[in-house]
Amino acid sequence: MDQVSRFYSGPGKLVAAIGSALEAAGLDRTALRPADLAPVDEFHIRGRAATLEIIEALDITADSQVVDLGSGLGGPARTLAELTGCSITGIDLTPEFCEVATALSAWTGLADRTRFRVGDATDTGLPDAAADAALTVHVGMNIADKHALYAEAFRLLRPGGRFVVYDVLQGEGGDVHYPVPWAADASTSFLATPQDMRTLLAAAGLDVVSEVDSSAESLAWFQEMRDRIHRDGPPPVTFAAFLGDAFAQMATNQVANLAEGRIRTAMFVCARPH
Ligand SMILES: C[S@@+](CC[C@H](N)C(=O)[O-])C[C@H]1O[C@@H](n2cnc3c(N)ncnc32)[C@H](O)[C@@H]1O
Repeated sequence: MDQVSRFYSGPGKLVAAIGSALEAAGLDRTALRPADLAPVDEFHIRGRAATLEIIEALDITADSQVVDLGSGLGGPARTLAELTGCSITGIDLTPEFCEVATALSAWTGLADRTRFRVGDATDTGLPDAAADAALTVHVGMNIADKHALYAEAFRLLRPGGRFVVYDVLQGEGGDVHYPVPWAADASTSFLATPQDMRTLLAAAGLDVVSEVDSSAESLAWFQEMRDRIHRDGPPPVTFAAFLGDAFAQMATNQVANLAEGRIRTAMFVCARPH
C-alpha cells in the first residue's frame, strides 16, 4: 500500500504549486468554483462529465450523507456537494491528496460539506449503515482485495442506499501498456474484468441495478484532450502537477490501451438490498 501512496505523492508542496499555477493563470483563489479545478481534481477518465453521471445515478438530496472511497484530490466530492447540497466524507490512502483536497474545498467554499480523511478504503473505520450513498471512482485498479473494498461499501450503506463504482477494467485485448495514471508498472495494478466485477459485487451482497460500458467515450475523451492541448495549450494546472513529466507518456499509453481493447471503463450502479 505504501507503494501505491508513494506513486501518487508528487514532489511535495502540492497545495502551493496548485495555488501558484491558478494565480498565474489569473484565477482568483477566493472565487473558485469546483468546475475551475476539474482538469486537476477530477482524476479519472472523462473527468467532470463522468461525475455528473454518477450524481444522476446516486439519487441523493441535500440531507444525504455520502462516502467517497479513494477520494483523491476531492473533485468528485466537491462536485457532488456543490450540485446536490449533500455532506460527503472522502477516504484516501495518500496523505498529500487529503491535504490538497481539504485546501481546495476551503478555496471553493465547500469546507463545511466535504471532509477528507487519510485511510484505507477497505477498512475505513466509519460507522455501519450510516451512509445514504457511496461511490468509488478509479480506485479499484490499485486494490488487490476487491472483495474487501465492496464489502466495506456494503457495510457503510444503509439498506436501500446506492453505491456507484466507476473504474478501469481489464479488456480482452491483452496486457496493459505501462506507465498509466494509476501505476508505473504491473506491481500495483489489479484490474478486474467486467465478469469479475459482477461476481465481486454480488458476493459483497450488492444488487447491480445497471452496468454501462463507456470505453468508446473514454477513447474519444483522451483524443479530444490531446487535440485541445495541441490547439490551445494545457490548462493552468493538470494531473502533471503530481504525476510529473511521465503524465504525457501515460496519456499516450491510455489512448493505445483503449484503442487496442486492453482496458475498458465501466460504471456499475448498485444498491444494498432492503
Ligand atoms: C486515480 S485516483 C482517483 C481519485 C478520485 N477518486 C477521483 O476520481 O478524482 C486513485 C486514488 O485512489 C487512492 N487509493 C488507492 N488505493 C487506496 C486504498 N486502498 N484506500 C484508499 N484510497 C486508495 C489513491 O491514493 C488515489 O487518490
